[in-house]
Amino acid sequence: MKPTADGMTDQWLREEISRLKKEKNALIMAHYYTRDEIQEIADFIGDSLALARQAAKTDADVIVMCGVHFMGETAKILCPGKTVLIPDMAAGCSLADSCDPVEFAAFVKDHPDHTVISYVNTSAAVKASTDIVVTSGNARKIVEQLPEDEKIIFGPDRNLGEYINSVTGRNMLLWNGACHVHDRFSLQKIDEMKRQHPGAKVLVHPECRRPLQLIADKVGSTAALLDFAQKDDAREYIVVTESGILFEMRRKCPEKTFLAAPAEDSECQCNQCDFMKLNTLRKVYEALRDGKPEIRVDAEIAEKAVLPIKRMLEMSE
Ligand code: 13P
Ligand code: SF4
Repeated sequence: MKPTADGMTDQWLREEISRLKKEKNALIMAHYYTRDEIQEIADFIGDSLALARQAAKTDADVIVMCGVHFMGETAKILCPGKTVLIPDMAAGCSLADSCDPVEFAAFVKDHPDHTVISYVNTSAAVKASTDIVVTSGNARKIVEQLPEDEKIIFGPDRNLGEYINSVTGRNMLLWNGACHVHDRFSLQKIDEMKRQHPGAKVLVHPECRRPLQLIADKVGSTAALLDFAQKDDAREYIVVTESGILFEMRRKCPEKTFLAAPAEDSECQCNQCDFMKLNTLRKVYEALRDGKPEIRVDAEIAEKAVLPIKRMLEMSE
């Protein structure tokens, strides 16, 4: 392998990460949307729900969260005594950014008789104005546990909110937020792909728009789509979510074909989340070596935000 100017080959980085992990009693967690090489070195790979659950029960002293900022924040809120590192502080989330905490708190205040449900893709400050946090993996299950006539605010993802309204028959009041990756998949291009691959099943993340949800053979979180592909008997799938998930799909089902769905603008790699791709082997190594960048959450906000996150974990057991 060709060494870089500073001698850090990928192999060397992997060995150093492994050594530092043991030395610091660290756990490397990664979301399915991260680069293949990050998923390869992770101790634990999962969707947002699995990452939160794993963070809540780990006995590691240090968590390196290879994902985006809100995932690190959730881990820190659940484990305030642990060091939570995120390889790149710039790994944000357009969906979380579509929900300003001050505006959201005002919206909540304007609807005092509503229960507030927030997607985990939010800042700690938004979670602090929330009654129950959900992920795409448990939103339906949690909403169905509330009385049928309960008035509910759901934020920030309007596409996920519309999906949950459709499957539960509720009429939740939706915040108008979206993810820049999932909101841009093209129905027309996926129709074309279906014509070219008539036997392929369509797997859709609920952050995609309603028309895409309607043509899906399965709508679900990244973990649910992976699970479906493993149990289902089709040979070919069109995958309508961030394309990083294909790595684990191909690893779990090597005999099947997974095709990444294109977004509206095929000139760019719009089916990729640039934030997730900021996690690199070198940054994981540097984070472990230097003990930074470290996630910190304001104590007053964390004290409020932990309650709806714990409620989510209890209600989705
Ligand atoms: P999951 O809940 O499927 O992990 O989705 C998280 C996410 O960021 C989707 O864009
Ligand atoms: Fe956020 Fe979208 Fe990236 Fe998921 S894919 S982390 S929702 S920007």
